[in-house]
Amino acid sequence: MTTSAIKDGDVSEDGEPTRRDFIHIFGAATAAAGAGAVLWPLVQQMNPDASVLALSTKEVDLSSVPVGQAIKVMWQGKPVFIRHRTATEIEEGEATPLSALKDPLARNANIGAKDEATDDDRVKASDGVVRPEWLILVGVCTHLGCIPLGTSAGENRGDYNGWFCPCHGSHYDIAGRIRKGPAPENLPVPPYQFVSDTVVKIG
Ligand code: FES
Repeated sequence: MTTSAIKDGDVSEDGEPTRRDFIHIFGAATAAAGAGAVLWPLVQQMNPDASVLALSTKEVDLSSVPVGQAIKVMWQGKPVFIRHRTATEIEEGEATPLSALKDPLARNANIGAKDEATDDDRVKASDGVVRPEWLILVGVCTHLGCIPLGTSAGENRGDYNGWFCPCHGSHYDIAGRIRKGPAPENLPVPPYQFVSDTVVKIG
């Protein structure tokens, strides 16, 4: 069959595309290009830019937090408590037996979900570093979401020298573990890592 004999819908004897095939291929390629043009901005929108990434983490300079005091910072819209514990407070946290805890789990985003709520595992960073003088917690009561007291000087720290949630009377200890009241879980430890001696990156 000669080329001039090929009509729409024909298949040439040598397997080459006919005119109709060409129209279909061209149409499909154009549609794919159009879809690609639509998809690209969507993909671009889904890639977090620098400002979004900056919001997902927060660097905090701890050099001005005296021993025995605490600060509250905001991270991802939630309060985060950072307490500079005294040697006595660390000893108190370490001496608490697991059998005295309402919630035996560490609730630390930096370690395993089933790890126990020892004092060490409550102050472990994402790179495994333990600096027991720094206790870092998401400051949202695990009962109904109030913000417990105990971060600012002079506030009621409850019966266990940690935090007190006056909404329904939950008491957290010096490692942020629930000890008394209706809250079911320890205050969660967010992901964090020290990026220098005095700066911690949360998130
Ligand atoms: S919300 Fe904290 S005790 Fe109820």
